[in-house]
Amino acid sequence: MIVPNHVAIIMDGNGRWATKRGKERSFGHLEGSKTLEKISLYAFKKGVKVLSVYAFSCDNFKRSKEEVDYLMNLFIKMFKTKMKKLKDKGIKIVFSGRKEPLREDVLKAMDKISFDTKNNQNGILNICLNYGGQEELIDASIKIANDINTNKIDIENIDKELFNKYLYNDLPVIDLLIRTSGELRVSDFMLYQMAYAEFYFTSTLFPDFNEEEFDKVLDAYDKRDRRFGSIKEN
Ligand code: IPE
Ligand code: IPE
Ligand code: MG
Repeated sequence: MIVPNHVAIIMDGNGRWATKRGKERSFGHLEGSKTLEKISLYAFKKGVKVLSVYAFSCDNFKRSKEEVDYLMNLFIKMFKTKMKKLKDKGIKIVFSGRKEPLREDVLKAMDKISFDTKNNQNGILNICLNYGGQEELIDASIKIANDINTNKIDIENIDKELFNKYLYNDLPVIDLLIRTSGELRVSDFMLYQMAYAEFYFTSTLFPDFNEEEFDKVLDAYDKRDRRFGSIKEN
């Protein structure tokens, strides 16, 4: 079986999961955080090398202060305690996104877990937090322009490989994108890295997404015919 090297997940549907149960949206986020821990451990166990997850978009700041505060506090808690199993399994944790306007205590917790796992070699969990794909491309363009202005790079040397180094993290291309909750869109997730990725959409709400369904996704991926623009030879 061919296991995708880089899997990306848009973890959507936490709010609806809670609302359906007559609970606050925050209850869905808490449940979603448990799912994230389980699914990431499972993905690495299955041989995935890089897992990118959409935890919070730049546009999610448009939500109520109550929901945003809950999520930020939940992230801190997760980075301080929940991610211990991943650390112990040798997974390196990195972040993608803008720092502004994240709170100081959130940034501190992010820095700490990145630092503590920076030498881990068994896989990479890329947590996209305060992340936008368009923002990432703008930020990369600004850094490139600055490096051209200060003669660090030449315009002639800009290619896909060099461009990738200006993104938040220099990661391999995405092989498989999963979105839960039935929405058929990529919103603002990893637009550059998504080229030629296989898409898998499921109506399962993220808190209900489990190992069994992940196996189904891997089976489906294994049957896909990836051509990258060329013609398949017999
Ligand atoms: C995804 O679930 C988590 C975040 C965006 C932080 P949602 O909160 O978007 O849940 P729904 O889509 O409203 O159900
Ligand atoms: C995408 O989900 C962002 C995350 C999962 C963190 P949203 O729920 O914010 O996306 P839209 O608004 O439905 O496109
Ligand atoms: Mg949503």
